[in-house]
Formats: sequence, structure tokens, C-alpha cells
Amino acid sequence: MTRQDSASYVVEESEASRTGRKFQDPFQGYFERGQQKGRTGTDLLDHHAARAWLRVIRWGMETGLYGYQQPFEEKAAPRIALDGENYLMLSSYDYLGLIGHPEVESAAIAAIRQFGTGTGGVRLLTGTTTLHQEFETELAAFKGTEAAMTFTSGYMANLGVISSLLGPGDSVILDSRAHRSIVDACRLARVQVRRFSHNDPCSLASELQKEARGKRTLIVVEGIYSMDGDICPLAEIVALKRKENAFLMVDEAHSFGTLGISGKGVDQYFGISPDAVDIWMGSLSKAIPSNGGFIAGARDLIIYMQHGAAAFMFSAALSPPAVGSARASLQVLQREPERIVALRRNAAYLRSGLIRLGFDIGNTDSQVIPVIVGSDERAYRLSHALFMQGVIALGIVSPAVPVGKARLRLCATAAQDRRFLDEVLAAFRVVRDAGWDEPAPLSP
Ligand SMILES: Cc1ncc(COP(=O)(O)O)c(C=O)c1O
Repeated sequence: MTRQDSASYVVEESEASRTGRKFQDPFQGYFERGQQKGRTGTDLLDHHAARAWLRVIRWGMETGLYGYQQPFEEKAAPRIALDGENYLMLSSYDYLGLIGHPEVESAAIAAIRQFGTGTGGVRLLTGTTTLHQEFETELAAFKGTEAAMTFTSGYMANLGVISSLLGPGDSVILDSRAHRSIVDACRLARVQVRRFSHNDPCSLASELQKEARGKRTLIVVEGIYSMDGDICPLAEIVALKRKENAFLMVDEAHSFGTLGISGKGVDQYFGISPDAVDIWMGSLSKAIPSNGGFIAGARDLIIYMQHGAAAFMFSAALSPPAVGSARASLQVLQREPERIVALRRNAAYLRSGLIRLGFDIGNTDSQVIPVIVGSDERAYRLSHALFMQGVIALGIVSPAVPVGKARLRLCATAAQDRRFLDEVLAAFRVVRDAGWDEPAPLSP
């Protein structure tokens, strides 16, 4: 162990050099065998996007920088093994540290024992169990709405709600950094889409005042932005929605379970009534470590969507173990608010440590912490350099973020402790000092 400096991040510097760390090949030698190089002709992949992606992936494999789809053999805990080496996990959404919680796992197993692994159908037919109903009632009570309904993912929840409520005569005004699932939902609904500058109420006001608004206007924002970690200015947005007679939807994929004193979300964080928002959306795969998504709101909205949202009606119900584990997680969250305190403390520590080391973390104010590096290639390089130091911090590149804004996205969680965070910061210091930013031998 060596002490680095007055910031006193502790690191076992020699460890990385002792190990045989290297990104695994998730393609089982496909690129090594060279098939991609010889590919020509008019096949399904003969279009610009596919060619560009295959080129980048091949470059990633040739340079050893491709770090996605690493095949883990165990739970995404803070300390995780991969191919016999130990790593610090910084890319898991397990914000409350509930992956592996015995009560959550037992609830999944109990749900399988009582209801089976699947429901044999969609919710309207055989897919509704008492477990689904109890969980949805508890979810609505927690969120402070009249009702809630679950979908098989947050992505599906966004598709379902927007496409069932709005159509070509309506308009949606999106924050410019809206998640892909919201954008896709608008495409499916064929609504007019306009964007306002990220987290800027003045820009939203000017979009709302434009004449070209549709019959009905829905504003869509996120509680915590998934790539940037900043929080939406909910009070200003609610005031504008009221003044301009629009509707408001908030995607709480990253703020449900993490913001507010008891994790109820961005409304609780700002002390705003949940009624101020027409549609609440959340994911069950982040602070709640299961699968699924939900919509919460007025009872008539939910009853209508049960009969009007294709993503709910034409897709099998959330499986019993997913509902059981989500329900148990919600119960643990309510019983153990100290997890939210730990999450916030860890996020603040990680943010300030990274700033002290000179990394650009944008405007994050939450557990989602971007380390913005610019080009996609630089994000791959930094991710790889950290991996060699035993840290898993995956790159987020275009099109998930604008070109030139590539980043690593770190997630603080309640399960991390001070020693863990010091080791992470020490690794960042090592890669910073070692000059991680040398171009890779081949260019994508
Ligand atoms: C803002 C936002 N909305 C929706 C989703 C989709 O949620 P899910 O992973 O449950 O499909 C995500 C996923 O990361 C997200 O970040």
C-alpha cells in the first residue's frame, strides 16, 4: 500500500502490473478470424450505420479497447471478479446496493414457487396475479398517485404511455437530452416533436409559446438525466406547464428510489406534490434491482392505458420473480432510508475526488457521474486504462451522447464504502499521471 498524497487515496499500485487483465472477447474470435474484413455485397448489413459500427467494433477488437459485453460470472456487486481478476464495479445501476439482498432474492424465489417463472400470457388475459396487483398498489401509494401499472421494461413503459395517449395532431416538447426510449416513443406516436435546451426553463417557455403547438402538448423531462446526472428544475417546469396549459411527464428511471428524503423521487426532492405531474414513469432495473418499468398517475389514466397501451396489451406480463423482487426491494427501501443517505454521501465523495483530480464531470448533482473526455476514441482509451487498474467504468459514446461529448459514466451506489471509493480515485490518479491519452495504434 502506498499513500499517494495529501488527498490520501490509498492504492495497491503494484497489483495491476501483477495481473493479466485484458478485456474478454465477447465475439468468440469472430473478428480475429477476419470474416468482417472480407465482407462485401448487398446484404442486410450493407448500409452506412452497420458498416460504421462494424468498423469501430473491429478496431476495438484489434486494439484491445472493446470493453462492452464482458461476461460476468457473478452478481454486479462493488467488488467483482472477471476471468479470475478482481475489479471495482463503477458501471452498475444498483444505486441502493440491493442486488443480492437476501430478502429480495427470497421474494423472487417465493414468487416462482407460488406463481411460476412466467404467467403464460399478457396482463389482460392470464398475466395478472395477486402479486402484480399488490405491487402496483404499493407502488402507487409510495409514489403518492392514485394508481400505477407495470411494463416489462422502462423502455416499454415510455413507448406504451406516449404512443397510447398522443397522436399526429399533438405535440411533445422534449428536453434536448431526453433518453432514446422517449424519442422512440414519439416516433411511434407520430407526434410533432420539438426540443428545448437542456434544463433551461426559458427555452422551454419559448417553445411553449410558439404557435405551431398541436392540439395537446406534453412536456417530457427526466428526474435525473441518465448521461449527465443533473436534476431537472421541476418547480419552474411545473409553473410553465400550468401557465401554458400543457401536460407534464417525468421519467424517473434514475431518480426513483434515489432522490428525496425517502427516495420517492424528484417531486419529494423539491417538496412538490406528486399531483403536479400528469404522468410519472420509472424503471425497476436501477434503484429497484429487478426488471420492468412503471407508469403512475390518475386512476382513469391507468385504466385507459391498460386497454390502450400496446406495449402493455400485446406483450407478456412482467414475470413473477421480477415482480416479487421489485416488491421486496420497495419494502427494503422504505424500511432502510439510510441507504439513500449512503448513496448521496458516496456520490458527493466520488464527485469531489474526481474534480480534485482534474476530471470534467459536467454538472452532475447525483449518483450518475460522467467523466467527459470528448472523442469516442478517448472514452475507449480511458475506460481501458482504468480497466487495467482494476476499475470497470464503461464508455458512453455517440449516438448515446452527442459526437464530441463521449464520456465514462460512473455510478455511485449505497453499497460502496470509503475504502472502495479511495481505491477508485487512486486508480484515476494513476491513469491520469501515466498519460492514458496516447492514441491507440489503429484508428477507427
Ligand atoms: C432515462 C431513462 N429512461 C428509460 C430507460 C429505460 O429503462 P429500462 O432499462 O428499465 O428499460 C432508461 C434506461 O437506462 C433511462 O436511462
